[in-house]
Amino acid sequence: MGSYMNEDLERARSWLQAAGSVAVLTGAGISAESGVPTFRDADGLWRSFRFEELATPEAFERDPKLVWEWYNFRRERIAKAQPNPGHMALVELETRKSEFTLITQNVDGLHELAGSKNLLKLHGDIWLVRCTKCGAGWIDRRPSLPEIPPHCLCGALARPGVVWFGEPLPKRVIDEATRAVKSSEILLVIGTSAVVYPAAGLIPLAKAHGRTVIEINPDETPCSDMADCSLHGPAGEILPRLVGSDSHRPKESDARSGARMKTFAEISAPEIKTMAAWLRSKLQGRANPLVLSRLSDEELVRRYLRGKEEGINHGRRKEEER
Ligand code: APR
Repeated sequence: MGSYMNEDLERARSWLQAAGSVAVLTGAGISAESGVPTFRDADGLWRSFRFEELATPEAFERDPKLVWEWYNFRRERIAKAQPNPGHMALVELETRKSEFTLITQNVDGLHELAGSKNLLKLHGDIWLVRCTKCGAGWIDRRPSLPEIPPHCLCGALARPGVVWFGEPLPKRVIDEATRAVKSSEILLVIGTSAVVYPAAGLIPLAKAHGRTVIEINPDETPCSDMADCSLHGPAGEILPRLVGSDSHRPKESDARSGARMKTFAEISAPEIKTMAAWLRSKLQGRANPLVLSRLSDEELVRRYLRGKEEGINHGRRKEEER
């Protein structure tokens, strides 16, 4: 359980409920509970790898194969990851706000997978591959590319569609992010160490325009001093409570109140997808990952419902025996 005060959470929740326009800045921390490593935490990627050798144009110039080996390693990890309740709560928040902009530093694609719509990707997309000569770009979702380094149809070398250290961010994207931060009543800052610019510069920009900043991060960061409220805990735990979203978890209360629980056949495909995402994040570290990865969303939800039904029937029988 994070070390945040319930009063702080209630205060932040009332601000968020009252706000008509919200901007959100996310970093690697929001995907940590989905099993995607962050960069600067104790077990972060930059603790065991040198970014100078892997995430700069110079490194790619020097050794494109090494750089692609590293992106293949990250693609394989990310391909196994599912959105967690933190990602899902932001999808819910977007449905409730007339103006909502999600600005992410992450290249893992988990916000899209969760269903976020108005999304600005500051640092690109790990599934995007781009030609170094003709500029063509294409999406390739194979966890690891068989031929590395890959080449474009024009024959030239292709590179990962991400922004490397020392490279400018896409102008349209950073301009839209700046506009959204200036015009939104609240800036939610989630899971970022707030040390990489220009992304981190959006936080003082919000303050300079008199906006309210709410931070979610287990640790103190340079943002904590600027924030109007810092909730120190995991995003996957705090965000559903902050947003008051519980939409992706089946309503157990219905079962207890005697209302009939939905059967598998009655659950829509999008519901199955979000329920499965919630179940996988809940089962992470508790169920055998291999078994979990082999279970389709449908099968996972079917088993969950079967278990619930049995539990409810068992409870009812106990009642009757009493
Ligand atoms: N919930 C919320 N925050 C978390 C969680 C969690 N479950 N777990 C860790 N964090 C926090 C850490 O405390 C840390 O402050 O997430 C932050 C992750 O920081 P970084 O690893 O530095 O990631 P980020 O801020 O996204 O890095 C910015 O740097 O390496 C480049 O391009 C890369 O986009 C990245 C940029």
